[in-house]
Amino acid sequence: MTNIKNRIDELTKILNDANYNYYVLANSIITDQEYDKYLRELEELEEKYPEYSFEDSPTKRVGGEVIDSFKKVYHEKPMLSLSDVFSESEVISFDERIKKEGINPQYVCELKIDGLSVSLLYKEGILVRAATRGDGVVGEDITHNAKTIKSIPLSLKEKIDIEVRGEIFMSKETLEKLNRERIKNNEKPLQNTRNAAAGSIRQLDSKIAAKRSLDSYIYHLPNPEDYGIKTHMEALDFMKNLGFKTNPNNRLVNNINEVLEFISEKTDTRDKLPYDIDGIVIKVNSFEYQNKLGFTAKYPKWATAYKFPAEEVLTKLRDIIFTVGRTGQITPNAVLDPVIVMGSTISRATLHNEDYVIEKDLHIGDIVSIRKAGDVIPEVVEVKKDRRTGLEKKFVMIDKCPICNSKLVKKGDQVDYYCINDHCPSRKIEGLIHFASRDAMNIDGLGDKIVEDFFNFGFIKEVSDIYLLQSHREDLTRLEGYGDKKITNLIEAIEKSKENSLEKLLFGLGISHVGSKTAKILASNYHNMDNLINASFDSLNSIRDIGDIIAESVVDYFKDERNINIINKLKSFGLNMEYLGKKIIQNSFFSGKTFVLTGSLILYSREKGKEIIESLGGKTSESVSKKTDYVIVGDNPGKKYEKALELGINILTEREFQEKIENN
Ligand code: IVH
Repeated sequence: MTNIKNRIDELTKILNDANYNYYVLANSIITDQEYDKYLRELEELEEKYPEYSFEDSPTKRVGGEVIDSFKKVYHEKPMLSLSDVFSESEVISFDERIKKEGINPQYVCELKIDGLSVSLLYKEGILVRAATRGDGVVGEDITHNAKTIKSIPLSLKEKIDIEVRGEIFMSKETLEKLNRERIKNNEKPLQNTRNAAAGSIRQLDSKIAAKRSLDSYIYHLPNPEDYGIKTHMEALDFMKNLGFKTNPNNRLVNNINEVLEFISEKTDTRDKLPYDIDGIVIKVNSFEYQNKLGFTAKYPKWATAYKFPAEEVLTKLRDIIFTVGRTGQITPNAVLDPVIVMGSTISRATLHNEDYVIEKDLHIGDIVSIRKAGDVIPEVVEVKKDRRTGLEKKFVMIDKCPICNSKLVKKGDQVDYYCINDHCPSRKIEGLIHFASRDAMNIDGLGDKIVEDFFNFGFIKEVSDIYLLQSHREDLTRLEGYGDKKITNLIEAIEKSKENSLEKLLFGLGISHVGSKTAKILASNYHNMDNLINASFDSLNSIRDIGDIIAESVVDYFKDERNINIINKLKSFGLNMEYLGKKIIQNSFFSGKTFVLTGSLILYSREKGKEIIESLGGKTSESVSKKTDYVIVGDNPGKKYEKALELGINILTEREFQEKIENN
């Protein structure tokens, strides 16, 4: 038996080493065939003798682990993001602000990888947890997927406890391959490497993440003092020596001029990199200086991100067409000769409203410049008037709905025109799309095109018809482009949506002025649909954040018989009509106690802190009195802290507060 154990040990080491050489150092030490042969041997042995398999076995990398949902993870030190600067002069001001503190630092310049940040936690050298950033304080556990990323070590070269942070990303080549595959399968290509990486990491089934060949660069050590490390550059080396992949482009420089040189060099060569970057990160090298500079509420003051300017591209404005939104609002849209901007093809851009088009003086046939920055939707920046030939056509606003031909109206002194025909097909389709959308009923697979098709085929006329789709199953699978699998998944997603909490349904119904936030306020106040249907104007209006306009709109909506009919149908199909939001936890440390927060908190924003206390059954107050049970104290606390000391009220540091939360 010990022979078998030794062989498993040996194979694990050989394969991990080969993996490290290949994926971290870009160096092959064994052939693919050898690798596969050893891996198969190891798999077979592990299957027979699972008791001998190691935590860091490379067989764990192929994926297979499927989770039900993402567990929440608290970050001991919050995962902050960086302040942005957009020009050379802003980079210089960043340096000047630091110099004002009496510091003349060396900087480390790094590429700002366009992926998503990750925290990796190792215990005795073994990867035990990987988490996304989330809101910086609470992220999601993605260990099952992180293990499939070959450049993330499953075990380190030293058996130490450590947390490191970095970026998970997808290379340009992997995205191209993936998109070729998707197009072949009639799926929509993914827009960019960041979305593709984020989508892969958010899979419950790690086999999918494994197939996506994600990669990583590690760039941050949150607790360098634990290892006696004094500078960021040393931290990068330290992490590299533990087996992490660090970026060879990282550069230590002596002054801001050298930072500017790095920026200009990388601006010129970024297209040649195998992965996307959206800027340059500049970090003060010395940790002593970093500590001296500290943080603002959101960002470290010792680092910043220079963002590359948004790319502008010229193209022709072919036409201006009009779309009708769910509320009947008419939007002019630019139809453009397709151009690639920042990696995605743009052929449409919103022109918002008539005034916008007039202000930009757009004529059909004009050459216009288009800009797209990161995730931001594309916009028309300006017309190149010097390129006009005289053949361009003046823009004329329409006065009839382009879909149902009914007369458009302006509401009050608003700039927008509306189609007010409740039966306008375009409004109905948009309303259905809205109902199925992510923040509403979140019915995966019921996107724009399919809704439009199903509406036109007569399968769905109103939202309740969505829940009857299963009875058309046969007909649906016969339609071109809607195979059995697609329809099965869709019907499953529709079934699942029945369990949604009330606020999702309320938002989905598309009541005027009820956005997703208001829907949540209504759901949490009235608990179920019937209470809300019977709520009076005064009752609604008495809720904080619900003013006259919303209250009136809600009352009007439920007065309309047609709406009640739809709700009754939805009820009969088994849709949940209750608010399932956070149940207040009884019997926690916080239950029944009153807390005051003071000083600047780093781990939690004030709002977040209060929300957590309330969700755990506590109360919060703005002022300290004898009734206060605890005062939670951040940096530079003021009068409230003094008063608490005076009254002998219990004090919690932010760290102690965090412990209490975690122990609940
Ligand atoms: S340092 C406290 N370094 O950019 C330091 N971030 O807006 C935190 N990013 O959330 C980040 N490359 O996802 C750092 N070399 C790099 C980076 C980098 C990409 C991302 C990261 C972060 C965001 C900051």
